[in-house]
Amino acid sequence: MIRNFTQVRADLVSKPSSWLVTGAAGFIGSHLLQTLLGLGQRVVAMDNFATGYRRNLDQVRDLVGPEAWSRCRFLEADIRDADACAAACQGAEYVLHQAALGSVPRSIEDPLTSNAANVTGFVNMAWGAHKAGVRRFVYASSSAVYGDHPDLPKVEERIGGPLSPYAVTKFVNEVYGEVFARCYGLRPVGLRYFNVFGPRQDPDGAYAAVIPRWIASLIKGEPILINGDGETSRDFCYIANVVQANILAAVNGGPGEGQQVFNVALNQRTTLNELFALLRDRLLGEFPHLRGCTPVYREFRAGDVRHSQADITKARTQLGYEPTHDIAAGLDESLAWYKANVVR
Ligand SMILES: NC(=O)c1ccc[n+]([C@@H]2O[C@H](COP(=O)([O-])OP(=O)(O)OC[C@H]3O[C@@H](n4cnc5c(N)ncnc54)[C@H](O)[C@@H]3O)[C@@H](O)[C@H]2O)c1
Repeated sequence: MIRNFTQVRADLVSKPSSWLVTGAAGFIGSHLLQTLLGLGQRVVAMDNFATGYRRNLDQVRDLVGPEAWSRCRFLEADIRDADACAAACQGAEYVLHQAALGSVPRSIEDPLTSNAANVTGFVNMAWGAHKAGVRRFVYASSSAVYGDHPDLPKVEERIGGPLSPYAVTKFVNEVYGEVFARCYGLRPVGLRYFNVFGPRQDPDGAYAAVIPRWIASLIKGEPILINGDGETSRDFCYIANVVQANILAAVNGGPGEGQQVFNVALNQRTTLNELFALLRDRLLGEFPHLRGCTPVYREFRAGDVRHSQADITKARTQLGYEPTHDIAAGLDESLAWYKANVVR
């Protein structure tokens, strides 16, 4: 019998566990940290600030309060350091491995650095988790593993050839996950995230994701650039759904002893043109300069897939995953945060 998220949360509150969250100063990791501390858990949080920020940790500390924060131990360490990974895993019952270098274009420009963090770092973490005897090793995979496979919606068993070094790294994570299950009895769960968004996602820099970058640009009155004709579509997934999937994956885990991989998204498709309209309409009241604002179209970007949409039946039936936020609800919560935090 699979426990739903309400039951799982109640169980965790009544019987707290020890967790390791890597990438905890980043976007997704900081939300996992915040939710786990809010549920009374003990958390080791690890990051090297490659793309994460101390201000994210400060914000979590302020949101959860001093008692919860006292249950967090922060380790400034690099997942490319095997000894640091092994030490971080000691005493953990569950590992949520999020640390990696995101972004397809970053990996195309610098495949060596992405590979070191995403592949060597992954093996270090999986090995450390195995040696420490953790109950479950949950890690961030990506919809990028679907690569050039044409089917929509994407189902877990059918993937295509990778379109970027980043996609290769996430695919290799899944292959290693399979082999670590076979050779060492580790029970990995790979979560294939599809375009996650929400508060604290970095709006700055060359590799910023589309939603935070556009929100910041709209607030500041800067032009919105669309790669291609705007009919490219994505299954945008609000962070609360991703947090839910991680905790369910750790505790429910899916059947059997081997590795399991799950899509984490909504099963909805939104084009970039639709996304632009959703954001502009929500901001118009407060930012009248957006009336008449239209995007600037430019070349398609190398390595981008045209359409992406997840079948989430497997996560629903085997993890008890039920998304709580559609894109509109997620954008409303996100915009409240960006309005308060983007420097104009
Ligand atoms: N955001 C998305 O839409 C999305 C989609 C698919 C997969 N993912 C995956 O989810 C995970 C989290 O992504 P995010 O969006 O929170 O990105 P993020 O950049 O905000 O967080 C990643 C964190 O990992 C840390 N990190 C990077 N290299 C490290 C290293 N060598 N040692 C220790 N820490 C290191 C960074 O400092 C950062 O805090 C990543 O594995 C990413 O590939 C994200």
